Amino acid sequence: METKRTIIPVASGKGGVGKSVFAANLSIALASLGHSTVAVDLDLGGSNLYTCLGLPNKYPGIGDFLKAGNIRFEELIVPTGIPNLKFLPGDGKTPFMANISYNQRITLLKELKNISARYVILDLGAGTVFNTLTFFGLAYKGMIVTSFETSSVMNFIMFLRNFIFRVISNVVRHNREALNILISAFQQPMGTGSLTVSYLLDKIADIDPKLANRVRETCNCYRPRIVFNMGDHPDELNVLEKLDNTIRQGLSIAADHFGFIFYDDMVRKAAKRKEILIRQYPDSIASQNIGHIARRVTRVWDRSLGSSGVHLIEDTQRHYEMWYGGK
Ligand SMILES: Nc1ncnc2c1ncn2[C@@H]1O[C@H](COP(=O)(O)OP(=O)(O)OP(=O)(O)O)[C@@H](O)[C@H]1O
Ligand SMILES: [Mg+2]
Repeated sequence: METKRTIIPVASGKGGVGKSVFAANLSIALASLGHSTVAVDLDLGGSNLYTCLGLPNKYPGIGDFLKAGNIRFEELIVPTGIPNLKFLPGDGKTPFMANISYNQRITLLKELKNISARYVILDLGAGTVFNTLTFFGLAYKGMIVTSFETSSVMNFIMFLRNFIFRVISNVVRHNREALNILISAFQQPMGTGSLTVSYLLDKIADIDPKLANRVRETCNCYRPRIVFNMGDHPDELNVLEKLDNTIRQGLSIAADHFGFIFYDDMVRKAAKRKEILIRQYPDSIASQNIGHIARRVTRVWDRSLGSSGVHLIEDTQRHYEMWYGGK
């Protein structure tokens, strides 16, 4: 009986970058490595994870749970027909209400934290709506999926910025003065020198040094892990250094570079045919990449990862040479 539980939220700044495909196939890969896994559709209002898992949309979901009030949360978690893998639907029969109350959110977070499985994979909606940021904060280490398109990378940085601001505002919420500094900084663009998180920390330290320390310690707990999707070539990873600097200088946190998935026509083909990518096309490059990420999750998720960028570049070059013969 596995007692340890790892929750992995999967988010993105921009929509359509492949979160659901990745979350579904990562869940299957983890399950096929022998770990009990629950794939959760938390894209409330736009749930479609079931399609990537080859399931019908006929089960009640989180929307029904919050609306009805008399459904037990455990009853929502259904078998998938895939050994070790269960599924928790999002909208289910009740398309989600955009605003959930504070109490509903607390109830939902508590239930999500208590799901009994070795891995709980959360497929989130795109962007930075409040619920998404809250769900991403369910774990210190979450995954952010991005493509290499400039708009996707920019939105990913914006997601992280909004997330960190939310974390900070939670810590300083009882200090009106600090909160006001945060609110006015939040309304201005990032990275223009004075508007970095380190500038904010200095400002908070002027008011209350202990509070600033608490903010710093809390922010340091978070270590997002980036998965690059729809890549064409390992050279695209040349952006890593610049990305690291932007995140470090602007947000005073570090992120790990965790995975690279090549663009693969089989992904869309599988979706069109209502097939499950990693099961029907296990030898496709995207399936191989996701399988590799799943093995990495089981091996290193709890560790701190030094030089993750170098590691990812080496891995990606190796996959590229194996697959394309280095062309
Ligand atoms: N590695 C890939 N190669 C080719 N196509 C891909 C790849 N990954 C995802 N796709 C395609 O990209 C599209 C978007 O994928 P998906 O629905 O998983 O994105 P998403 O981030 O969950 O979107 P949303 O923000 O709307 O929830 C789909 O058509 C999917 O088949
Ligand atoms: Mg999705």
